[in-house]
Amino acid sequence: MKPKQDWKEQAKRAVAKEAVKNVKNGFILGLGSGSTAAYVIKEIGKRIQTENLKVYAIPTSYQAMLLAVENRIPLTTLYEYPEIDLTIDGADQIDKNLNMIKGGGAALTREKIVASASKKVLIVADETKLTDKLGKNCPVPIEVLPFALPHVIKKIEKLGGKPVLRQAKNKVGPIITDNGNSIIDVDFGIMEIPEKLESLLKSIPGIVETGLFINMADTALIGGEKGIKRLKKV
Ligand code: 5RP
Repeated sequence: MKPKQDWKEQAKRAVAKEAVKNVKNGFILGLGSGSTAAYVIKEIGKRIQTENLKVYAIPTSYQAMLLAVENRIPLTTLYEYPEIDLTIDGADQIDKNLNMIKGGGAALTREKIVASASKKVLIVADETKLTDKLGKNCPVPIEVLPFALPHVIKKIEKLGGKPVLRQAKNKVGPIITDNGNSIIDVDFGIMEIPEKLESLLKSIPGIVETGLFINMADTALIGGEKGIKRLKKV
């Protein structure tokens, strides 16, 4: 039997390859962040080299930008193209309505802006990301202006959340996002009505963005040991 990591990496590669089949000549693309999105970026690079595919891409993070450059994907910005044809991105947790928790890679703010600017959002993930209820064993990452951290933490605790300031690896202290902010990972437990929580959180001054992606994805390609499942927004 194959070790668990093997099938997961294979599944991520397979959904990335399948997703990139949806990219057409002339598209403006949103490039997601994370390990599955990294396979997508490599796959787009391959199509550019082998098929002379013509696209411009808007990366959602420093990671995605560097990978795009490495894979010779021409870059652009929302200033040149405020409307994106297709964004392909990963997810930390996804339910049957294609609502998601994102931000495991701390790129949630740009990911949400790029998703919101996109005509179509295609999500790629392995099946461990599927859930019946958002929030089950998965905290919600929230990007916060450092100046406002103590205030935001207090407000979130009043809402019943348990926030933890995300610490950096290979650097002392908290992580700093691509936008110069902090991330708190908040355990809210199972969320019965995530959209309600989202609007409460967005009303707290100092919260830049939340990792709750409600009603943003159109399709999800979920890779498992037995192949790929395609989920559509209901
Ligand atoms: C980054 C994200 C990623 O899409 C999410 O963390 C999934 O990453 P991976 O494909 O590595 O599991 O939201 O902010």
